[in-house]
Amino acid sequence: MVPSPGLPDDMLDRTFYILTFGCQMNDNDSNWLARALESRGFRRVSSDNADEAAVRILNTCSVRDKPEQKVYSEIGRIAHRCKVLGQEDVVVAVGGCVAQQVGDELFRRFPIVRLVFGTDGISRAPEAIERIVENPSLKMSCLDFSDDYVERPDAIDRAPAASFVNIMQGCDNFCAYCIVPFVRGRQRSREAGQILDECRKLIDKGAREITLLGQNVNSYGLDGAGHPGFAKLLRQVASLPGLLRLRFVTSHPKDIAPEVVRAFGELENLCPRLHLPLQSGSDKILKSMGRHYTVGQYRETIRELRKARPDIIFTTDMIVGFPGETEDDFLQSMDMMREVGFAASFSFVYSDRPGARAVDFPFKIPRETGLERLSRLQAWQIQASTSILNEMIGKHEVVLIEEPGQREDPAGEAWQGRTGHGHTVHVTLPPGARSNWAGKMLPVRIIGASKHSLKGRQEGEPW
Ligand code: SAH
Ligand code: SF4
Ligand code: F3S
Repeated sequence: MVPSPGLPDDMLDRTFYILTFGCQMNDNDSNWLARALESRGFRRVSSDNADEAAVRILNTCSVRDKPEQKVYSEIGRIAHRCKVLGQEDVVVAVGGCVAQQVGDELFRRFPIVRLVFGTDGISRAPEAIERIVENPSLKMSCLDFSDDYVERPDAIDRAPAASFVNIMQGCDNFCAYCIVPFVRGRQRSREAGQILDECRKLIDKGAREITLLGQNVNSYGLDGAGHPGFAKLLRQVASLPGLLRLRFVTSHPKDIAPEVVRAFGELENLCPRLHLPLQSGSDKILKSMGRHYTVGQYRETIRELRKARPDIIFTTDMIVGFPGETEDDFLQSMDMMREVGFAASFSFVYSDRPGARAVDFPFKIPRETGLERLSRLQAWQIQASTSILNEMIGKHEVVLIEEPGQREDPAGEAWQGRTGHGHTVHVTLPPGARSNWAGKMLPVRIIGASKHSLKGRQEGEPW
């Protein structure tokens, strides 16, 4: 390898960088992989030094064609750079959902790739990386799915103030457009005891907020005997001493049980914000997507949740341009967005995914039509989100401080965190106490709003 100015010589072959695409599950997986490699003596480099790392890991997403293509262009870029610089011994490892989807074919397409690991196979990636680094002619793949939830040994020194805990792997829903069940495998719930142990450990190491993660957390436990069910698990986690805030993602509207709805009114630390993907506001399209709820049922769920917790806010995912979506179907989606008044939404143009049923559906929508609908939907969302944030100016909030802010702040130290409703708030805090702010609950007055976040001023003592 070409020596890099910033890195001592003896570290060169054990530095790594992970580029993560996709959802919070991938983020969580990458964070685990980084800790696992560090515990084997590897050293993570910052994004500025990514192109100098001896091991370059891509944890990939395959949910739409665009993120998949991004992966290929990034591998191509790395291969080209390594060739030009003569960095022949760089280890490129591709993991996650694209790796699971494409498998060993990646070795043929990109000879620079030395390791391919899937979404379950990630548990074996640290050992595989170590072997490959030590043996320059070795290539390996870890692509098998496991029948059970795969526990991964973890050594956490310090937990982020807002931490994430996996409660299940995979998904059994097979929505007509979705590749996730193919690349993450069937649903496997994690033992409640393991979940609670990890939560306790994180709280002990500084976490004050926990988000429970899964593709469809509401169906937690339904895949096997011996699991408590999601509502019960939620109560068990909520009652852990020291946990100030609890969230969960993602919920499938068809599975949200009445006990989970009630929990929003009963559990004080359960935050009043719920991500509830609607996908479409047309019953015809929902049926063809295989979502198993109607707009009326979704509306009723929202009504019940508001009854249980009047200040709850909602966010959602929407797909436009699904096969067969007429202008009228799309307008029904817009109507539903307005009716619920989502605080934020992630919206996408439908994309064909290999293996998903919708690939073979007739009446595909031209890309330009999809893009045009997407821009109308997003224009509405921007103005709706902005007005929700603007209405918060003058209000008193408690912000859980998570990390230093990205912007330089001449008036003090820039920090950021979130309110219970999940709004990001930037604050300027007195300099000199930087290490003390992460994890603090800070009372603030909201004094400004921009497109995606709020500005706050400290008003009271943190705890
Ligand atoms: N498990 C979650 C979301 C998984 S994927 C759920 O059920 O809601 C995240 C989002 O990507 C989905 O909610 C959907 O809006 C979008 N998505 C998934 N497959 C897609 C596809 N083929 N084309 C466009 N958007 C898609
Ligand atoms: Fe995909 Fe549907 Fe499963 Fe979500 S619930 S991951 S959209 S198949
Ligand atoms: Fe993408 Fe895989 Fe998540 S496909 S959205 S990284 S589960």
